[in-house]
Amino acid sequence: MDEQKPDGNEAADLDIFDVAYNTDPGPVWRDLRERCPFARTEKRGGFWLTTTYDDVQSLVRKVPELSNRQVSVVEMPEDRDLLGDFNTDQFPPITKDPPENIPLRRALLPFFTPKAVEVYRPFTQALCNDLIDKFIAKGACDAAVDYAQQITPRVIGHMLGIGTDRADDFVQWVRGFIEYGFNDQELRAESHRQLVDYFTEQLARRRAEPGDDFISQLLEKEIEGEPLTDKVIVKMCVLTLAAGIDTTWSSIGSSLLHFASHDADRRRLAGEPALFPTAIEEMLRLHAPVSVGRIAMEDVAHNDATIKRGERLILNFPAANRDPAVFDRPDEAVLDRAKNRHVAFGIGVHRCAGSNLARMEMDVALRTWFARIPEFTISDPDGVTWAAGQVRGARNVPVQF
Ligand code: HEM
Repeated sequence: MDEQKPDGNEAADLDIFDVAYNTDPGPVWRDLRERCPFARTEKRGGFWLTTTYDDVQSLVRKVPELSNRQVSVVEMPEDRDLLGDFNTDQFPPITKDPPENIPLRRALLPFFTPKAVEVYRPFTQALCNDLIDKFIAKGACDAAVDYAQQITPRVIGHMLGIGTDRADDFVQWVRGFIEYGFNDQELRAESHRQLVDYFTEQLARRRAEPGDDFISQLLEKEIEGEPLTDKVIVKMCVLTLAAGIDTTWSSIGSSLLHFASHDADRRRLAGEPALFPTAIEEMLRLHAPVSVGRIAMEDVAHNDATIKRGERLILNFPAANRDPAVFDRPDEAVLDRAKNRHVAFGIGVHRCAGSNLARMEMDVALRTWFARIPEFTISDPDGVTWAAGQVRGARNVPVQF
C-alpha cells in the first residue's frame, strides 16, 4: 500500500468531470485496479468507483439493495428523499428496481429488437449521406459536431414519430438536462420542464389522432390489464430520448477520432470492410461511453469494504472493458478481436434497451463515412475535446481529408 495514503483511499481526489481524466482515463483505471480496485472518491458528494470486470458483474446483481432510483452519481436537489418515500417514477424503467421495472421494461423492448431497428436503416443511411454531402467538398469538418451529433437526435425523432425538425431543440434540452445541467441546477430543471412539456403535448395529439408510431403504440400497452398512465408514457419518452442521443453520438465520435488518429487501423478497416462488425464491438469496448450510478438502500458488504446505507457508487463499465484479467492488450484496438464480451451496454436487469439501435446507427454511420471518406486525419490535435462525467465521448473531432 502507498505510505502516502494510509487509509487506502487511493482515489479520494478523483473527479470524474476532470478534463485530463476524461481525455485519457486508461492510466488512472490501470493504476487503481492494481492498488485499490474498489476505490472511493470524496469529490462530487463522494462515491465508490469500480475498476474491474468482476466487480461490475457482482455489484450489478445486488438488487434491490443497490438501487437504481438515482442513476446519476452527482447529487440532485430532487434526491432529498432518496432513501425514504422517493418517487421512482422519474424515468421508468431505469429508475425502478425489480420487480417494478420488469413490466415497464417489457413494454419498451419490442421497439428495439434487431428486426424492429432495421426499419430505420434506410432513413439513417440517407441522413448520413446528406450530412456528408454538406461538407465533403470542403475537405474538412468536425466529425463529431457536423456528423455524429447530427445523426442520433434525428434517428430518434424519426423513431418516436415526431420528425426531425426539432432535433436541435432535443439536443439542447437533453444536454441541458444530463450534461451541462450537472453543474447548473436551474438549467437542469428548465430543460427537464421543456422535455416533459414537449412530450405531454405530443401525447395529447396522438391520443386525438393515433398513428403507428412509438407514442401511439405505448398508448395501446397494458400492464396487468391497465393502460400506462400519461405520466409514465411521457417519462418513458424522455428517457428514450435522453438515453439514445449523447450515448450513441459519443460512440460514433470516439470511433471517428480513433480512426483519424490511428493510421494503420484506418487503412486496415478501409481495405477490409468485412471487419466492420468486430471493429464496431471493439470501439464499443475501448471507448465505452456510459457509467451509471447506484445508491445503497442498506449496508452492502463488498470485498473488504462496506457500502453504507445512503452511499452511492458508480458502475464503471468503461473501466471493466479494459480489465487485463478479461481482455488481452486491453488498452489497444484489436479490430478483429474474436472474443469480446464487453459490458458497454451494462449487464442484468437494466441492460441497455437500445443496444440494437445503437449498433445499427454505428454500423451505418461508420460504413457510410468510410465508403465516401476512407482517408482522413486529425487537422488540429488541440481542437479535440471530450465530454466529461458519466457519458464520456469525443465532442470535437476536427478532421481533414
Ligand atoms: C453506444 C450507445 C449506448 C450505450 C453505450 C448505452 C449504455 C447503456 C447502459 C450502460 C445502460 C444500463 C443502465 C443501468 O445499468 O442502470 C443503458 C440503459 C438504457 N439504455 Fe442505453 N446505451 C446506448 C444507446 C442507447 C439507445 C440508442 C437507446 C434508445 C434510444 C438507449 C436506451 C436505454 C434505455 C431505455 C435504458 C434503460 C433500460 C432499463 O432500465 O431497463 N440506449 N444504456
